[in-house]
Amino acid sequence: MAPLNGDGSPAPQFVQRCIESNCHQEYSTEQRLYVCTECGGLLDIVLTGDIPSATVLKATWRDRRASFERVDRSGVWRFREVLPIKDEAAIISLQEGNTPLYDARRSASYCKLDSLRLKHQGCNPTGSFKDTGMTVAVTQALILQSKLVACASTGNTAASLAAYAARAGLPCAIMVPSGHVSAAKLAQSLDYGAAVIEVEGNFDGCMATIREISEELPVYLVNSINPFRIEGQKTVAFELMEQLQWQVPDHLVLPGGNLGNSSAFGKGFREMFAAGLIDRQPRISVVQAEGASPFAKLYDEHSRHPDLLKLEPERDPHTLASAINIGAPVSWQKAWRAVNETTGTVLTVSEAEIADAKAVIGRDGIGCEPASATTVAGIRKLVQQEIIKSGDDVVAVLTGHLLKDTDYTGKYHSGTLFAVAVESRFRNEPIKVSGAVDEITTVFRRLIDEREHKSDELALQQT
Ligand code: F0G
Repeated sequence: MAPLNGDGSPAPQFVQRCIESNCHQEYSTEQRLYVCTECGGLLDIVLTGDIPSATVLKATWRDRRASFERVDRSGVWRFREVLPIKDEAAIISLQEGNTPLYDARRSASYCKLDSLRLKHQGCNPTGSFKDTGMTVAVTQALILQSKLVACASTGNTAASLAAYAARAGLPCAIMVPSGHVSAAKLAQSLDYGAAVIEVEGNFDGCMATIREISEELPVYLVNSINPFRIEGQKTVAFELMEQLQWQVPDHLVLPGGNLGNSSAFGKGFREMFAAGLIDRQPRISVVQAEGASPFAKLYDEHSRHPDLLKLEPERDPHTLASAINIGAPVSWQKAWRAVNETTGTVLTVSEAEIADAKAVIGRDGIGCEPASATTVAGIRKLVQQEIIKSGDDVVAVLTGHLLKDTDYTGKYHSGTLFAVAVESRFRNEPIKVSGAVDEITTVFRRLIDEREHKSDELALQQT
């Protein structure tokens, strides 16, 4: 008998399906798989049954905001009609999601936009967007009776997995590139009790090794190659649209690393469009750091040679935005689909552009980790290139919290972030004083004086 929804209606059915158009092989959701066993293609979770009408869904999701039920408190499981797990008792949740959508006036003016909204995924329980996917992936790990959950990570996936595995009581192993993960992210994984395996080399090496191992052992891999992770992350697009009262923005801009997040947003918007929840899709654009930009190179190459669509991995990626220091993104085909279907674009920004944009986001009282700031840096460029118009409705996704990488921020503000002499344009160095009242009074007077004579809004616009 088909499982039932709480109201007695049949629960929708889901399958795993290969995304390759010449394959489309299907598998049950009970199979522990990451790629198609026929052709090696990535897998999508696909809804095969019916879901309630758009009007009913919108009303149900809105009503759940006022509910005290455990699953309704989660900003992911509130949208459970579009999620492939029906056993509510199995759900491992830290009340993820429900993240703020901020108006960012200074960031908007920095980009020369009339307005700009920032969806802050850094406000999730472990401080990054990974939690929205991890709640689903770790729940699925329990359903599959996995013995160990594991991931390769630049730090955030690891911290998130470690937390959810701890909640589930599952052993957890994370592989990170030694010396290339921020202290805060490592500290989280340690405190949550994960086995932290520090590996010589970079993220791509960790990713390749862990994929190999998870073929051999009963290990559940929860990198974004895992389609259940993507399912959780796609709900952020639903939540965003609810916050925007279902008015679709013109542009949605995301940072790109392993490219799971862009894939997830693409899937979310595609599904909402198909279900009649929205009447069009935003243009989804992905921003990479210049030193780790295989996807942007693919985009450029493809625009010159439309018959070519093959990502060339970068052997030695390098960016100070360590979260996205990735040369061989595993989900590029899905991210490509998102960008291509929505006529978005892929671009790169320099290290200095990332660092300055991050400081500007900070000046909005919001803040984020370096990788997230690629968005505002990228939007500024897209406005200059007139791909985004000043009056367009633009949303950028901030993926990680400011406190994820305080070393980077401290160095930026003391002017020591870059080995070469690159100016920190929004440098804000601590003011060192002896402690004498006179001295501090002088500082206060200067601050008041500056405020009276120069609006900081103007200071940003003049940049
Ligand atoms: N922003 C942050 C803060 C991240 O941690 C990541 C990825 C990204 C952006 C890129 O997202 O990979 O979905 O394109 N971090 C992964 C990790 C790789 O291991 O934490 P993506």
